[in-house]
Amino acid sequence: MRGLFVTATDTGVGKTEVCCALLRAARARGLDLVAAKPAQSGHAPGEASDAERLARAMDGCEPVGAICPYTFAAPLAPAVAARVEGREVSFARVLEAVRALAARHAAVLVEGAGGLMTPLTARETYADLAVALGLPVLVVARAGLGTVNHAVLTVEALRARGLAVAGVVLNRAGPGGDPSEPFNAAEIERLSGARVIASLPWEIDIARESRLADLLAEVKF
Ligand SMILES: Nc1ncnc2c1ncn2[C@@H]1O[C@H](COP(=O)(O)OP(=O)(O)OP(=O)(O)O)[C@@H](O)[C@H]1O
Ligand SMILES: [Mg+2]
Repeated sequence: MRGLFVTATDTGVGKTEVCCALLRAARARGLDLVAAKPAQSGHAPGEASDAERLARAMDGCEPVGAICPYTFAAPLAPAVAARVEGREVSFARVLEAVRALAARHAAVLVEGAGGLMTPLTARETYADLAVALGLPVLVVARAGLGTVNHAVLTVEALRARGLAVAGVVLNRAGPGGDPSEPFNAAEIERLSGARVIASLPWEIDIARESRLADLLAEVKF
């Protein structure tokens, strides 16, 4: 399987936003990249879910149900939301859904939920999913203060599991910046040994973001 597992340092950091930018940048280059979102939960009524946003960014080439086998109403981690609804997430079904997408396309981005240790099933976390898929991992981290600690911890957890770290992408998940931003990439690289491939602005313009090409290079089509 070719592609990337896309995790983040927290929920709401910009995994879907970064995946959508990569999907659009890939399509603009004629590259057959799709995304999988194994489980989603808690999107507000009237708001697009992650799978709907991803489907739109890949021009509807896959139905939402193929991108995302599990949708839960409550804003809870998938394993917890499933328990609350009296349902269960099957790890085998998740793997099957991702593998089916990967078989139909050149490469797949697998978006986690929350961060690496978010519970996916009653037994497995998203770290276990990354291990089972064997994909290199891209870490989406906040651009601002606090990101060094979160990003370095995530890289350490990935390495402890033998996972390949494709790199870190810093994303501005809000319109404003803070004074730490010019320093964070160098600190993350120094302390984790992982490469910060790109720093993306609020409102990513895929035509102007040359670093998206560097991120796409990590997909290794
Ligand atoms: N660079 C950006 N430019 C504009 N909006 C952004 C950017 N990054 C994030 N956002 C917005 O911030 C919110 C959170 O981002 P996003 O949904 O991508 O996070 P996530 O890491 O995928 O969260 P989850 O864990 O729920 O999947 C969304 O409303 C998204 O549109
Ligand atoms: Mg998301």
